[in-house]
Amino acid sequence: MGKIVIAIDGYSGCGKSSTAKAVAKALGFTYIDSGAMYRAATLHFLNHYLSPSVPHDVEKGLKTLEISFQINPDSQKQETYLNGLNVEDEIRTMRVSEKVSEIATVKEIRKELVSQQQRLGKKKGVVMDGRDIGSVVFPDAELKVFMTADLETRAARRQQELLEKGDMIDMEEIKTNLSERDRIDSSRAESPLTKMPDAVEIDTSNLTFEEQVQQIVDLAKEIIEKEKDYAGNH
Ligand code: CDP
Ligand code: CDP
Repeated sequence: MGKIVIAIDGYSGCGKSSTAKAVAKALGFTYIDSGAMYRAATLHFLNHYLSPSVPHDVEKGLKTLEISFQINPDSQKQETYLNGLNVEDEIRTMRVSEKVSEIATVKEIRKELVSQQQRLGKKKGVVMDGRDIGSVVFPDAELKVFMTADLETRAARRQQELLEKGDMIDMEEIKTNLSERDRIDSSRAESPLTKMPDAVEIDTSNLTFEEQVQQIVDLAKEIIEKEKDYAGNH
């Protein structure tokens, strides 16, 4: 199958990463979770008491930051590593969620992570989800999706996810965190979350997971076919 880049952006908790993962699997593409990279950077700053508003701390933090992804041989799931340590669960905790959008406003941190993301997607055949993938990381992506869902639905899904990991978090706390992150992510000066004019909007509030995955897989296959025809005629 031909290889394209699929960029999935949108608000917190609307299903980007789980959908992107399933789309990648269906197409035999690589999935890259850009949010996990911002979360790992946040954990690094928290662990070392580094402040994102102190330039010297940012410089020091970036110098000692190494993020990678590895497939767990048992579960076959992709997991995030920070300086050689598996931090997949820790980066999803509220401690990190509460701080990540602040870290993600820092220009130097974005610059470094964007260049790592561009390197990871250079060979195409990737599905990447985040906030600035279609606008900054891969502005030429063949398929751009902008996902949305109402706040109640997103919070309920996130609560369920945390519960499955043994974290019982109050619904109001989750809603506040999601909407506060949406606010910071959409209004920041550096690459704010925005729907690109060439992005396809998918509201997942009333879709099943399988439906939203299928919609994107169908769109991707259509583009791949068109590219094949075009290549055949030229
Ligand atoms: O999964 P969830 O939607 O809660 O968030 P995430 O995708 O893990 O991203 C966590 C945070 O990282 C977001 O709220 C943004 O502040 C930041 N982020 C970003 O600024 N740019 C990206 N490409 C991805 C994430
Ligand atoms: O990456 P993002 O924060 O946008 O969302 P996520 O981490 O993929 O979390 C969305 C959660 O809602 C996952 O547990 C999905 O299985 C679930 N879900 C969904 O994404 N779409 C539906 N139609 C129903 C449930």
